[in-house]
Amino acid sequence: MLKIGNITINSRLILAPLAGVSNLPFRLISRKHGCKFAFTEMISARAMYYKNRNTLKMLESNRDDTPLGVQILGDEPAILKDSLKMLKIFPFDILDFNAACPVGKVSSKDKGAGLLKNPAKLIEQLSVVIENTDVPVTLKIRSGWDEGNINAVYIAAQAEKAGAKAIFLHGRTKVQGYAGKVDYSIIKEVKKSVRIPVIASGDNVNPQMIKKMFDETGCDAVTIARGALGNPWIFEVTEKYLKKGVLPAPPEVTEIINTMKEHLNLLKNFYGGKKGAAVFRKFFAWYSRNFKKVKSLREKSLKANTVEDMLAVIEELKVLSQ
Ligand SMILES: Cc1cc2nc3c(=O)[nH]c(=O)nc-3n(C[C@H](O)[C@H](O)[C@H](O)COP(=O)(O)O)c2cc1C
Repeated sequence: MLKIGNITINSRLILAPLAGVSNLPFRLISRKHGCKFAFTEMISARAMYYKNRNTLKMLESNRDDTPLGVQILGDEPAILKDSLKMLKIFPFDILDFNAACPVGKVSSKDKGAGLLKNPAKLIEQLSVVIENTDVPVTLKIRSGWDEGNINAVYIAAQAEKAGAKAIFLHGRTKVQGYAGKVDYSIIKEVKKSVRIPVIASGDNVNPQMIKKMFDETGCDAVTIARGALGNPWIFEVTEKYLKKGVLPAPPEVTEIINTMKEHLNLLKNFYGGKKGAAVFRKFFAWYSRNFKKVKSLREKSLKANTVEDMLAVIEELKVLSQ
């Protein structure tokens, strides 16, 4: 169990915000397999301000998709305030402020991980979010900008003082991006230095690595990111592993194939057939990761323009594995 402000979450495993991935169908599939709290894709305050249609679509949810977190990418205070006003019509439970995104066009400005270089601005924007939102606000950071500038302990303490209700911490620097060693010791240090929950991120890709994260850092919870791609079972499997110390059997081929079809159908209902099939292409590659001789089918999936085309490729995958 995890408590963030007045929100109780019935698990210590959280589905991370994943740009381009954590849309409603992906969240629903993850929830079906034990995910108890999920984030939407990252919402740019500026895109919200300009009522970008794709951004508004990212905020669509339903009754099966709760409790839900939204993550916002900051901007100058006037834009941020306006976007927060617009956000109020959407139902969600926690608002996370992103100071972790390493993508160049974001972090080269005072946005995402760029804010790690300017803690005063980070806290200024975070405070605007806290003052203009009714739900608990959390902060996502990295260990620092680079290995010479590790400042997560300082920023976490400032954020707690400003009223943040939890810290999400990716144990890598902005310069590391998504590769290289995760720094467990910085997560442990942050955990010791604040009273609000610390939720750890970085290489939480299987039950054993997730247990290692808990053991080495003492974190209150973890976010699962790459580990959930094409693997929604990671939530239920990890819950069992953490409770019993035994790894349950991996899902059977039939279960994987049926989940792929279900996921594709959810995407069709959410985006329509053409876009649904296009969005599923990357999921095809992730779901089929452990299948053998799958290269030509993957290539075929990239050319599937309709749901029917994609279903045919999924059927071929099933036959291939028999
Ligand atoms: C495709 C992809 C999209 C991501 N999008 C976001 C995002 O929008 N916001 C965010 O805070 N982190 C984002 N992340 C980072 C993850 O939440 C996580 O911190 C990072 O991948 C490290 O965890 P992992 O090693 O377990 O994958 C993204 C990661 C990936 C792979």
